[in-house]
Amino acid sequence: MMNLAPSILAADFCELGKQIDIVEKAGVSCLHVDIMDGVFVPSISFGMPVLKCLKKRSKLFMDVHMMVDRPERYVEELIKLGADGVTIHVEACGCVSDTLAIIQDHGVRAGIALNPETPVREIIPYIDMVDLILVMTVHPGFGGQSYLTGSIDRIKMVRDMINGQKRDIRLEIDGGIYLNNLKMNLEAGADVIVAGSAVFEGDIEKNIKRFMELLI
Ligand code: DX5
Ligand code: ZN
Repeated sequence: MMNLAPSILAADFCELGKQIDIVEKAGVSCLHVDIMDGVFVPSISFGMPVLKCLKKRSKLFMDVHMMVDRPERYVEELIKLGADGVTIHVEACGCVSDTLAIIQDHGVRAGIALNPETPVREIIPYIDMVDLILVMTVHPGFGGQSYLTGSIDRIKMVRDMINGQKRDIRLEIDGGIYLNNLKMNLEAGADVIVAGSAVFEGDIEKNIKRFMELLI
């Protein structure tokens, strides 16, 4: 199964509730929530109060992407506020396996993310503890960047890794994904597609419809 996960980083925050309603009505099941701390990445996005409001507003699966240094400090609070999946960066965490264990112990989906320059092999020690692997296809920190073409080989490598496992592990990609490069990423093995600008710029409903047609 393929999923579209619209990233609200590209939403109009003055219209956030209405835009989330449109996304949900359009048949999307998952929302990508980018939390940035200004340390792990240069920019700051939003945090707990926004997640809390989103959760009240919709039934969408909250896919929280923590671009945060030492995320272990916050995972429990995020889960309490409604995160259904929490993804931490392998580069950001002093104790990756302890943090993944906390996430799994709370019964939510545990994800591990890889920056573009991080060797794919760095996730091998954690593969038994994750439900999702996020391959960054831009340098994290900002929406609207161009897709890094070297990502395709990395996606294929992760796909091979996942196929060698018995567990059901999803392969998420994030950054610079548009309708015109979607197909090659799906062919490489991605099955959860994050899209910010491509969903929220222009007509949200139409954008989602076009994505969904290619994801079937
Ligand atoms: C980037 C974030 C992404 C971002 C994607 O650091 O993790 O989720 O919102 O935005 P687009 O799709 O515009 O590249
Ligand atoms: Zn993200």
